[in-house]
Amino acid sequence: MLSTVILISGRGTNMKAIVEAQIPNVQIKAIISNDPEAKGLEYAKQQGIEAVVVNHKEFANRSAFDTALKACIDQFEVDLVILAGFMRILTPDFVQHYRGRLLNIHPSLLPLFKGLHTHERALEAGVKEHGVSVHFVTEDLDGGPIIAQARVPVLEGDDADALAGRVLVQEHQIYPKVVQWFAEGRLKLQDSQVLLDGEAVTF
Ligand code: GAR
Repeated sequence: MLSTVILISGRGTNMKAIVEAQIPNVQIKAIISNDPEAKGLEYAKQQGIEAVVVNHKEFANRSAFDTALKACIDQFEVDLVILAGFMRILTPDFVQHYRGRLLNIHPSLLPLFKGLHTHERALEAGVKEHGVSVHFVTEDLDGGPIIAQARVPVLEGDDADALAGRVLVQEHQIYPKVVQWFAEGRLKLQDSQVLLDGEAVTF
């Protein structure tokens, strides 16, 4: 059984997609949010999943917050930490502690559009294709080794909301699939290389 926690900061639709996928041999031990107002917390409670808040505003600095977050996560003795719309930059210490067992989803075709406002920036750049990436988290913000991507077309007349909605549909497909690969023992980070079924994954 793979033990996980899912970290969120907001509405938590990716978290919901992972919960609803009912991936065999995956136990979601808690949903953790840095924001007490995160909408996703309510869903977690309704599902009978422990919902925990580690409010970043209660800590003097990033390092103190990350230390508390790490302690919170580690009490659940997890094999995998899933960032699902968790909007905090993590310290190198935190990231190293979970190396190879820390996943993130980012709403762009990385390495394009790291950071925030990805859909607006994709429209401004005039790209014809946009999408989502799931990657292992390293010290390099939004720059960790990519595991999987899904692409969507940018259509005539798209605004950021329309494009975000099209990407989100793909996010909800791709993230549970990656978690399932990890649970099946098919997915590994070896040095800085992603291996799926022992084969190098390259983007
Ligand atoms: C998702 O689009 C996710 O890819 C993005 O935040 C949204 C969270 O939505 N994550 C990032 O931008 C991380 N840098 P959700 O709370 O409904 O899952």
